[in-house]
Amino acid sequence: MADSEARPDPTDGLPAMPVGEWARDKHALLKLYIEISRGVRKKFIGAGKAGATFIDLYCASGRAYIRGTDTFIDGSPLVGWTASRDCKVPFTQVHINDSDRELLDAAGTRLTRLGAPVVKHGGEALAVAETLSKELNPYALHFALIDPFNLMLPFGVIRHLASLKRIDLLVHVSAMDLQRNWARYTQQTRSPLDEFAPSWRNAVDLAQPEDSARPHFVQYWIGLLKSLGFGGEVRFELITGSKNQPLYWLVLVAKHEIATKFWKTATQYGKTQQMF
Ligand SMILES: C[S@@+](CC[C@H](N)C(=O)[O-])C[C@H]1O[C@@H](n2cnc3c(N)ncnc32)[C@H](O)[C@@H]1O
Repeated sequence: MADSEARPDPTDGLPAMPVGEWARDKHALLKLYIEISRGVRKKFIGAGKAGATFIDLYCASGRAYIRGTDTFIDGSPLVGWTASRDCKVPFTQVHINDSDRELLDAAGTRLTRLGAPVVKHGGEALAVAETLSKELNPYALHFALIDPFNLMLPFGVIRHLASLKRIDLLVHVSAMDLQRNWARYTQQTRSPLDEFAPSWRNAVDLAQPEDSARPHFVQYWIGLLKSLGFGGEVRFELITGSKNQPLYWLVLVAKHEIATKFWKTATQYGKTQQMF
């Protein structure tokens, strides 16, 4: 069940969850990336083609409000679908998932009203990623947004999706969680760090100062990604808060350099837009 902070969106009466102002940056970059990658997507769309999917594994309800305001915005499943539709290269399937059934159903209803070819899952991201890896068309082009809370991202999610030949991932990695909770997590025998980057303790020397141990941890995670066949540059885009504090990275994890190139363009263009 959606928690008590959920509010009905006045436009449709369905739940919207609170988000920080910074969610706009995430959605703007997601939109830009989907627009910029339309040329490649186009090659997979049409009669006899394998298709191009958008997978939103932690999709929430599809609408959100900026905390402390009455401003309602689209959430990632709606941003992703409408970006593809509006640039005239629509995804052939939109796979959505959230462990919260009420939020998932709201996202499904909203996408259906927008004419999206939506496929609803519903469960733990790890199990759904495994199902998708077996059931999706192996010849299609896949793009997955992985947007969990904090560092609560089991590496198995990425491992399952990596078995698809043509898949690129946009992953939310919480810089704030890593920074704030590093000391506590490293003292726990089992912490989110162990889910996020299995066996990291064999690779990161905890005797070194925190400020160098954390980058080593991130480097180790990048090494795990490379071992799964993500050959493109793993590119981090830092999203900061209103006081310039690091909040999270959006990380493009790509099988092919062209996706990295698109992401580079999206982040550069996104920054230019913010400057003026
Ligand atoms: C940060 S929100 C997603 C926001 C959304 N991507 C957007 O930008 O509009 C994270 C979502 O993950 C869901 N969630 C948390 N743990 C999950 C899990 N293990 N599997 C699937 N969904 C989960 C939560 O219910 C929540 O809706």
